[in-house]
Amino acid sequence: MTILDVLTVPNPVLSQKCDPVTVFDKELQQLIDDMFETMNDSKGIGLAAPQVGVLMQLFICKTETDRVVAINPKLEYLGDELESEEGCLSIPNILAVVDRRSQVKLTAKDVNGKEFSRVYDDLMAIVIQHEFDHLVGKLITDCPLEIKNVEGDI
Ligand code: NI
Repeated sequence: MTILDVLTVPNPVLSQKCDPVTVFDKELQQLIDDMFETMNDSKGIGLAAPQVGVLMQLFICKTETDRVVAINPKLEYLGDELESEEGCLSIPNILAVVDRRSQVKLTAKDVNGKEFSRVYDDLMAIVIQHEFDHLVGKLITDCPLEIKNVEGDI
């Protein structure tokens, strides 16, 4: 596996919309493996393909209890509105408070091209919303409720 370079702002790739994945092959599996390696190395809990320069509708997330690979995802926003304080591997030294929902229903394809649909709550619901936004070129600094500079703290 390979640790990939994570693009940071103001790289314009981070603001672009991603295209659907149409080919589910060994190369795609390799990209996903490399993304997990990269995310773990950066101590992140989510990573979207455009962050490693690949404009594909693909993201991964990992919490202590769960792991998600989502390809060509669709999201249904459920649950309560909440304010979430988030960082992003592509925006070093910044935490942003953004509007999220407490629950989402994710419908996506897995690495084999098989569709799945599942409801997520709590931290995983929030990470999924964050990564989903990356696929449409939306960052936590685009319309934040608050921005905190944490340079030196993390
Ligand atoms: Ni991010």
